[in-house]
Amino acid sequence: MKKIVVLASGSGSNFQAIIDAVNRGDIKARIAGLIASKPQIGAVKRARDHNIPVAVLENPSDQDYTENLMAQLTHWNPDLIVLAGYLRKIPTEVVEAYPNQIINIHPSLLPKYGGKGFYGEHVHRAVLEAGESESGCTVHFVNELYDKGDIIRQVKVPVRDSDTPETLAKRILAEEHKLLPSVISELLTSNRT
Ligand code: GRF
Repeated sequence: MKKIVVLASGSGSNFQAIIDAVNRGDIKARIAGLIASKPQIGAVKRARDHNIPVAVLENPSDQDYTENLMAQLTHWNPDLIVLAGYLRKIPTEVVEAYPNQIINIHPSLLPKYGGKGFYGEHVHRAVLEAGESESGCTVHFVNELYDKGDIIRQVKVPVRDSDTPETLAKRILAEEHKLLPSVISELLTSNRT
């Protein structure tokens, strides 16, 4: 059976969507583990609730971080690595060790509103300030530049006149929860990983 490792820094609602899809049998793989950037985040609680092993890589110096991340990934030996709201950059060494095996979800229609500083509410605020009529979410392969790897799939979400960053984020997040598991399933069954 194929293995997935998820990396998260936040509440982990996308991680939960992956867990649910695995439990339903929509993703035919096992979640080998969660790598979290802090012990007290929601994603860690979700992992513990589902008996998924957790490794916390908390704020280490850059060299240690790369070594620890590589060691953990080597140990779990994933077919696919999923960044589900992970805020740290993936070191080049790791990107090179897992070519086309690391994917990320981003809450905008990349290449718009991606890159350094565009995370969480900042993305949606910028979309609204620019007067965009649509936004959405993107799943893409990870390379050594933030949000710049090849796009796999996007879903558009219309922007409403009444939207605030919070209401837009909420509608996009609901789409993320469908898009991410669906792309994971597709990649694993297409043998692209
Ligand atoms: C999502 O909006 C995702 O696109 C972005 O970070 C957020 C994570 O949310 N990369 P959650 O932790 O999965 O709830």
